Amino acid sequence: MKGVILAGGLGTRLFPLTKITNKHLLPVFDRPMIYYPIQCLVNAGIDDIMIVTGGRKSGDFLSLLGNGKDFGLKHLNYTYQEGEGGIAEALGLCAHWAQGDKVAVVLGDNIIETNIKKAVEDFKAQDKGAKILLKEVHDPERFGVARMDGDRVAEIIEKPKNPATNLAVIGIYMYDGRVFDVIKTLEPSERGELEITDVNNWFIQDGSMTAEVLDGWWTDAGTFESLHGAAQLVAEAGANHIDAD
Ligand code: DAU
Repeated sequence: MKGVILAGGLGTRLFPLTKITNKHLLPVFDRPMIYYPIQCLVNAGIDDIMIVTGGRKSGDFLSLLGNGKDFGLKHLNYTYQEGEGGIAEALGLCAHWAQGDKVAVVLGDNIIETNIKKAVEDFKAQDKGAKILLKEVHDPERFGVARMDGDRVAEIIEKPKNPATNLAVIGIYMYDGRVFDVIKTLEPSERGELEITDVNNWFIQDGSMTAEVLDGWWTDAGTFESLHGAAQLVAEAGANHIDAD
């Protein structure tokens, strides 16, 4: 299975911190934000990784990460997203590289406490479809939110005003090779983006979506509050938490 990290976009919610650098190069406690999603994939046993970058400082990713030696990797792949056309658009740029393989996608501003290796192994064994991870949050209106039908996810609603549950869809997604055909059918949302939630709803409709609730904490780091909170969580967990199994 291949891994994709999405670190495009313009990070406008963190302006002026993102005026002269890419959001994913900002520090979260003792290392740059992008280190966490890379380590997340490596811990799960995925070593063939594509990083989608964007913005004016995209060359800095290469200076920082090189071939991925800090993570025990021999090679990293990079590609470039122009503008901010959405998470699904950024993933679509990896179609030529994925070549029909299954992919695990991690948003570049998502940080988790635990290892997702078991979920990745479960998805490898899953015949087809997709897998998402859910987490109970106190502010679901900030995220994609799962509407449940018993144990099954019936629908995901992006940033609902009146959330049906407090189960957020976190920024770690697994897909079979059909995801790239699905992305080609998407229309931009009201915010002008190709939405990953539309991709996930396609797999729900297809009847091939599985979902698990994530153990341990999860946070994004795309707002001032969450960036600050992420640094605190990492610091409290011990600086090396992401290196552990
Ligand atoms: O953090 C989880 C949430 O991420 C999910 O619950 C939502 O369903 C999903 O839409 C997303 O919500 P956000 O609105 O918070 O996503 P944001 O625009 O902050 O983008 C998250 C990351 O995705 C960002 O750090 C880099 C990548 N990205 C985003 C966009 C818009 C790209 O690579 N390219 C893009 O064009």
